[in-house]
This record gives sequence, structure tokens and C-alpha cells, in this order.
Amino acid sequence: MFANKEGQKVPSCVWHTRQGDQWVDVSSGEIFNNRTVVVFSLPGAFTPTCSSSHLPRYNELAKVFKQYGVDEIVCVSVNDTFVMNAWKAQQEAENITMIPDGNVEFTRGMGMAVMKEDLGFGERSWRYSMLVKNGVIEKMFIEPEKPGDPFEVSDADTMLRYIAPDYKEQPSIVVFTKPGCPFCAKAKAMLNEKGLAFEEIVLGRDATTVAIRAATGKTTVPQVFIGGEYVGGSEDLAAYLNK
Ligand code: BEZ
Repeated sequence: MFANKEGQKVPSCVWHTRQGDQWVDVSSGEIFNNRTVVVFSLPGAFTPTCSSSHLPRYNELAKVFKQYGVDEIVCVSVNDTFVMNAWKAQQEAENITMIPDGNVEFTRGMGMAVMKEDLGFGERSWRYSMLVKNGVIEKMFIEPEKPGDPFEVSDADTMLRYIAPDYKEQPSIVVFTKPGCPFCAKAKAMLNEKGLAFEEIVLGRDATTVAIRAATGKTTVPQVFIGGEYVGGSEDLAAYLNK
């Protein structure tokens, strides 16, 4: 049974990190004192769920967490600093601070160490997340004790709903464009004016016309999709945004 440690202080420890070609010791005090920190802890760098979902979503929502007063988002794993640094680079997780808890000191102190001998992993961290304010745990989300590797509550969206229940996520927007296309520029300007973030797929660079024909049956640009809905070209987008 994993104990919920809400109201308690995080364990004190020092992590040995590699920054560039230097060893830099980072203390838990530096991370947590007088700061608001979100921690998520997982069984291992480069493992499938951690790489495809747990880490990327925290990285994606980091700016939102920061708007709501979070100073730092920290990923803890029982791995060494070289592995954690390589994973961060591979994942382009520039918004996340990697904590290599290779000595399992913090994880044991949190009561979250588990043996994963069946996988040849040795001692690792159970998956959990927590919100820590000035070194004191305000909220913990601990994965249920089920066989395997449950991933139900320690995700970034659950933490964000706790911190910012009023936050409404903007629907995902994608715009197919071609370089030099004036209607594409107009569509992008309309989205920017409304403060709507979007991903641009430039035909000829990111995809070929096959992609746009497959998705829309057309070859003209721009073509806009919002929240899983096909909107159309720039005039359709103007009508959509005026709705
Ligand atoms: C995963 O992230 O998918 C994973 C983590 C630990 C062991 C096996 C898989």
C-alpha cells in the first residue's frame, strides 16, 4: 500500500547530474524551497508509456502550468543522469527538469519504490504525480495498485484539472499551406488575431499533396481542421470564426 503523503515535506536529497561536461549536484532544497513544483515520477526513461504519453503531455502543457503559478515541472526516474539527459534530448522535452534518482533515495523517501525484477529493471519508482509548494506536498495522484503499469491518474491533464479547474483547452488546429500562398497567410493571420495556436503543415516541406488530397479530396490551400472537424479554406475559416 502506497501512503499518501499530502501535508508532509518531500524527502531531502542530493542528485548528481551531468550538465554539459560538468558534474553538478542539485539538492532537493534548490528545486522545492519557496517554489511551486509539479513532480511526476515514472518507472523508466525510454519506456513506451513514459515516452509516448506521460512525459510529452507534461512538456506540452508546461506553458499552461506556468500560467497557473507552477515554477518548475520535474520528472523523476530511477535512472542515471546520462540516460535522463539522452531521453530528454530525444523527446525534445525542453520544458521539463530531469531528476536522475539512480540511488533511489528520493523515491524510497516518498515510499514509492517498487521491485520490477520480473522485467529485469530492479528497483524503480511506482508512477505518481504531486504538487509541491515550498517543499510541502499539497496533492498526490498515485496510480492504483494493480498488476503491470497502470497509468490512470498521474497524467498531466489530471494534474492540470486539479490546479486549474477553470482551464479550457483550445481545440487542436492544423493548417495545410504552401509557401507564398496569400490565402494561407490570411488564414494564419485570422487564427493569430484570435490568439489560436495552430500547427502548420507546409506542403512540399512537411508533406506532399497526397496528404491534403487524402484528408480533404482537394489540392488547394489553405485547408484547415479544428478539433477533429474539417473547416475548409480561408473563407470557410472566416465564417467558422465569426460563428
Ligand atoms: C512503459 O512505460 O510502457 C513501461 C514502463 C515500465 C515497464 C514497462 C513498460
